[in-house]
Amino acid sequence: MLAPVPPVLVSCGGKGDYRPNIITVAWAGTVCSEPPMLSVSIRPQRYSHEIISATREIVVNLPTAALAKAVDWCGVKSGRDVDKFDGACLTPFRSDYVSAPGILESPVNMECKVRKIIQLGSHDMFIAEIVAVHVTEELIDKRGKLRLEDAGLLAYSHGEYYALGRRLGYFGYSVRKR
Ligand SMILES: Cc1cc2nc3c(=O)[nH]c(=O)nc-3n(C[C@H](O)[C@H](O)[C@H](O)COP(=O)(O)O)c2cc1C
Repeated sequence: MLAPVPPVLVSCGGKGDYRPNIITVAWAGTVCSEPPMLSVSIRPQRYSHEIISATREIVVNLPTAALAKAVDWCGVKSGRDVDKFDGACLTPFRSDYVSAPGILESPVNMECKVRKIIQLGSHDMFIAEIVAVHVTEELIDKRGKLRLEDAGLLAYSHGEYYALGRRLGYFGYSVRKR
């Protein structure tokens, strides 16, 4: 019932026998600032679980509302049966530090190396360190500031996809003097 959450497109593979693949993951989170780390929880039955356990490298790509259909499709098809980059019309681009490619259509791509795998029950949690971040130039303003609010990021709540809505405030605004 934790909602809304960011659904992410996790790309993996591109190493050894594993072709590039994409899995949609909603059980994802920020878990550490220094070093920067995130988590993705994946069921052992998923093909991506096998790939990531073997390669220990992923790219976490943030989807926009325009990518909602691709997010859903990559979450119902398996890379055992289809090429998801082809099937979802997504463009792979070479990463700097990991074998898995990033997804060009996604505005933010985080290259990650898996540091720990924790078996929790239905899901295994992959804790991964972010070793590089790519952001589309369109989201960087003239002063070099990241304008993530302009990305149109996707949210997932109780089985449904939403575009982010109206801005209500900002960090610390409740205590700021007028
Ligand atoms: C919105 C959405 C969120 C999902 N979240 C997760 C998740 O957090 N963990 C997981 O193991 N599977 C999750 N899935 C299911 C996988 O994405 C799905 O089983 C996918 O087909 C696995 O692909 P693969 O076999 O190529 O790895 C989600 C699916 C959707 C549509």
